[in-house]
Amino acid sequence: MSESPKSAPPLQHTGHPGELVGVGEDVWMDVIHKMDEVYADLLQYEVALEQQNAKLEESQQFILSVLTSMSDILVVCDRSGTIEDVNRSLLDFTGKTLDQLRGSSLFELFADDLSRAQARHLLTLYGDDGVHDCELPLRARDGSAVPVSLNCTPRYNAVGKSLGMVITGRPVGELRRAYQALRQAHEDLKRTQQQLLHSEKMASLGRLVAGVAHELNNPISFILGNVHALRRYAGRLEQYLDAVHAGTSAAQLAELRAELRIDRILADLPPLIDGTIEGAERTRDIVDGLKRFSAIDRDEQQPFNLTEVIERAVRWVCKAARQSFAVQVRLPAQIPLRGSPGQMQQVMMNLVQNAWDATCEQSAPRLEIDGQLVGTRAIIRFHDNGPGIAEQHLAHIFDPFFTTKPVGKGTGLGLSISYGIVERHGGQLSARNHPDGGAELVVELPVGSA
Ligand SMILES: Nc1ncnc2c1ncn2[C@@H]1O[C@H](COP(=O)(O)OP(=O)(O)O)[C@@H](O)[C@H]1O
Ligand SMILES: [Mg+2]
Repeated sequence: MSESPKSAPPLQHTGHPGELVGVGEDVWMDVIHKMDEVYADLLQYEVALEQQNAKLEESQQFILSVLTSMSDILVVCDRSGTIEDVNRSLLDFTGKTLDQLRGSSLFELFADDLSRAQARHLLTLYGDDGVHDCELPLRARDGSAVPVSLNCTPRYNAVGKSLGMVITGRPVGELRRAYQALRQAHEDLKRTQQQLLHSEKMASLGRLVAGVAHELNNPISFILGNVHALRRYAGRLEQYLDAVHAGTSAAQLAELRAELRIDRILADLPPLIDGTIEGAERTRDIVDGLKRFSAIDRDEQQPFNLTEVIERAVRWVCKAARQSFAVQVRLPAQIPLRGSPGQMQQVMMNLVQNAWDATCEQSAPRLEIDGQLVGTRAIIRFHDNGPGIAEQHLAHIFDPFFTTKPVGKGTGLGLSISYGIVERHGGQLSARNHPDGGAELVVELPVGSA
């Protein structure tokens, strides 16, 4: 209010009491004008005040909403630790009302004497610098002690005088439990994956053992048959030689020779021995192949003929299938590759096995394996007459653990492992549905000098 004190003329009483004498109209006008001014000013102040009030209310509302929605607990207390205010989370946490808490000691919130003493110690020692992420148990509404990660910040007034502190805290039990559960789930998953990996290995091994057993069966029974024949022959030769040494007459010897069919024995011996040797060699080769297969995990770099590997894979899977599985193999005699024949064998066996799994319900299960050498690459196609691969599965069949087979039958690892092996050999493994029906798996590999 701007003041411009004018010296008003002295008031005089004349005539009727209560009537101002000597006050001119101009003075009244002046007063009225002044009042108007004051009134306008007041009005202005009122408006400003209301605006400020609204702002204050707004920011109070804002602070309140923040405090209420905070999941962390919050306590405001004075220098001695007497609680001045708390947020909704602390009310929920303790199960007490604001009135109960206001004016009580901060330290009563702690779960036991030990944590109370620790809190006192911490706040007196470090209160001025603040306390960060200190874990102490508070007493929850159900009476249990819940560990809470606490932070404490000192609180000052406008002139920097300490007023007390603000304490925030986050119950860590929930977090820990969630973390524990997560870790448990992760461990379980890892174990399951390992089990699956193990069962894929066991399945491979099973196929291998079945294949080897069949493979060995042939030469061994061959050798056994030959050795039995040789033993019979040996008996007859012994009988004849005994007669020779006993000085039997030439005519009798000739008769015995015919009877024991000695000439036939002599003619039979070389092929019998050759056959036995061959059978033994075959057995040795199979065992050799087995040794190579068992070196699956070694990163080998050796020349080998893929055609042989594929043919062996087909033999072994077909033998294990024990039903008629028409596999037609059209491959160049030599597909020279470099790498691990054992690992490649696993790839080929898996492809043939998958084809058998897909076609075994058909009336005439069939698989065609065609191979070509194109420039420096070998392209092998496996086309079966099964139902093919569902469109929505095509993108996933190389994913580890993707399988459409029942539990215990498929591990979903075969193609993913095969994909990795082919890739490590510098090649590619792809799948599509053949226009003539059935699935077609294509292996493309760089040819190496054998
Ligand atoms: N020749 C095929 N015909 C149809 N589906 C196939 C063929 N080969 C693979 N699949 C599909 O790909 C999936 C993954 O194969 P694979 O990785 O070898 O695992 P698994 O044989 O243990 O299921 C199979 O479950 C099957 O759904
Ligand atoms: Mg498989």
